[in-house]
Amino acid sequence: MDTQAYSKISNAALIQELYRRYRCQEEALRKRIVLLGMPGAGKGTHSAKMLARFCMCHLSTGDLLREEVRSGSEFGKKLKGIMERGELIEDEVMCNLIKQQLAKPACANGAILDGFPRTIPQAEKLDQILKQSGQSIDQAIFMNVREQVVVDRLGGRWTHLNSGRTYHYKFNPPKVHGVDDITGEPLVQREDDKEATIRNRLNVYQNKTSPIIDYYRKKGILFEVNAERPVNDIWKDIKSIVKTK
Ligand code: AP5
Ligand code: MG
Repeated sequence: MDTQAYSKISNAALIQELYRRYRCQEEALRKRIVLLGMPGAGKGTHSAKMLARFCMCHLSTGDLLREEVRSGSEFGKKLKGIMERGELIEDEVMCNLIKQQLAKPACANGAILDGFPRTIPQAEKLDQILKQSGQSIDQAIFMNVREQVVVDRLGGRWTHLNSGRTYHYKFNPPKVHGVDDITGEPLVQREDDKEATIRNRLNVYQNKTSPIIDYYRKKGILFEVNAERPVNDIWKDIKSIVKTK
């Protein structure tokens, strides 16, 4: 145990973290949940809350791809252009990525899929991958929001790159301007949060991603929330959906 590192954390913060872990263990739901919704619907914002509350793993394909871009690899260079235009990465690449991630021990208590699937072929492949280990998607939560609302949200979004935590300069500001609440590291604006790219991401969402809503509705596992309300109100709904058997 690294006592040196723990000595920097206050007793109150340590006890709070222990309590969180204990509660997660007690309430491990072992569900696989897909978060659906337009860019800016609040998928990342609520994934962070679900992760803290239910100790599931958080698989954000956008965060995983941005990490690859930051690594400077040849593959990352290819991804960068596609993402900055707001286009989608090939289905096969994305399905292989998610398959590797789902196999990690961190996902044994359940998984939040944020940004995947994004096309019908991805949704079908995800079902096949899970079926191989006797699992399936338990719930798909559709965060419904109008286009005009998300354009405002994305224009003001600030992100902590290492964790994927998001803030909004007006709607959800950090405690200190420009700085992540947890680590104190600087916040940045995402390259694809420029207006022209936002418009393209919204078109891609309408054409390729929105049919997935019906895919899960037909399976009887779709739950819809009005995602235009304040974060705490949306979170109450999501919490009760996740807790339903
Ligand atoms: P990805 O990173 O997944 O981006 P996205 O789907 O466009 O979604 P966002 O992250 O922009 O929105 P969000 O719903 O997480 O909103 P957030 O909580 O941050 O993907 C990026 C790119 O990667 C894609 O364009 C594509 O190129 C590629 N990619 C990823 N997955 C792929 C796949 N499966 N297949 C192919 N390509 C893939 O909230 C937004 C802002 O609003 C924040 O500032 C937040 O503070 C604020 N906010 C949130 N909720 C509220 C509220 N209720 N009220 C007020 N403000 C709020
Ligand atoms: Mg996100």
